[in-house]
Amino acid sequence: MSALNKIARTMLSNRRGILAADESIGTMSSRLEKVGVKPTEESRRVYRELIVTTPRLSESISGVILADETFHQKVSDGRTFPQFLDDIGILTGIKVDTGAKSLAGSPEEKITEGLDGLRERVADYVRLGATFAKWRAVITIGEGTPSDAAVRANVHALARYAGLCQEGGLVPIVEPEVLMDGDHSLARCREVTTAVLAELFEELDLMRVQLDGIVLKPNMVVAGSGSGEQPSVADVAAATVETLRETVPASVPGMAFLSGGQSPEVATQHLGAMQKLDPLPWELTFSFGRALVGPALETWRGDEGNRAAAQKVLAERAAANFAAR
Ligand code: 13P
Repeated sequence: MSALNKIARTMLSNRRGILAADESIGTMSSRLEKVGVKPTEESRRVYRELIVTTPRLSESISGVILADETFHQKVSDGRTFPQFLDDIGILTGIKVDTGAKSLAGSPEEKITEGLDGLRERVADYVRLGATFAKWRAVITIGEGTPSDAAVRANVHALARYAGLCQEGGLVPIVEPEVLMDGDHSLARCREVTTAVLAELFEELDLMRVQLDGIVLKPNMVVAGSGSGEQPSVADVAAATVETLRETVPASVPGMAFLSGGQSPEVATQHLGAMQKLDPLPWELTFSFGRALVGPALETWRGDEGNRAAAQKVLAERAAANFAAR
């Protein structure tokens, strides 16, 4: 087993999942403001410390994805976040993309940036304790979108990122997110997700990415949030698994889904329903952001008196997803 495959298997092991706490400074700040917390470097640190110090987190969480700011910050006892996570048996991941920017030629679509200097940044992150990385590409469904240009540019960047991570010893989480925003049907989401994943795996092959040393982070196949269509849990689970079976080679050790704006409970139900569609050639787990930490942030609201209650809510969400696996 290669070193990369071993890390990927650990990320997917013991029915655990991954916690995405890597919101950019801008996104985290607006989420803090929404619950009445003044966004500062320190308030972002305190909130992330609340998350990682949740009692018994490692029973259901194998890895936490950090943003660069948090990666270099310290918990109250002086350990860095990666040192602290290592001490409690959780792998540290690092978001290495620098954000999704408007795509020239199709400005309503996005291209994710961050390849420049990535080799050197990967080396630094490895030295400071990271074992895996994340890069998120965003694909928009709309009238005339996604364009071929947006899909090709984004899967190319994902493959270049994945190759650089593997060269430096990090397992890349490869995340081509087909957004839920829009009034499209589940069938259209399936069609676009299939096309994006097919092109992604061609590009990963071209760039000689070792497939047993990645973790795929796909969207679930759902109807657009503005469509009014409400497919059943069983329908979403079946459409998602069928899409993945058609496109994802069995050499990929596993997938960790994003939640993408689904409610925490529904995301968990979908994850549970997919597990029942045996036999699956890969592990299926969660790598949720909002669906894991959203309720905890709402409970905390910046009040230290709410810390234990917020951690309890996070532990419950993590345990529910663990149970769904
Ligand atoms: P959500 O689960 O909130 O979609 O976030 C996951 C993630 O890491 C997106 O990049």
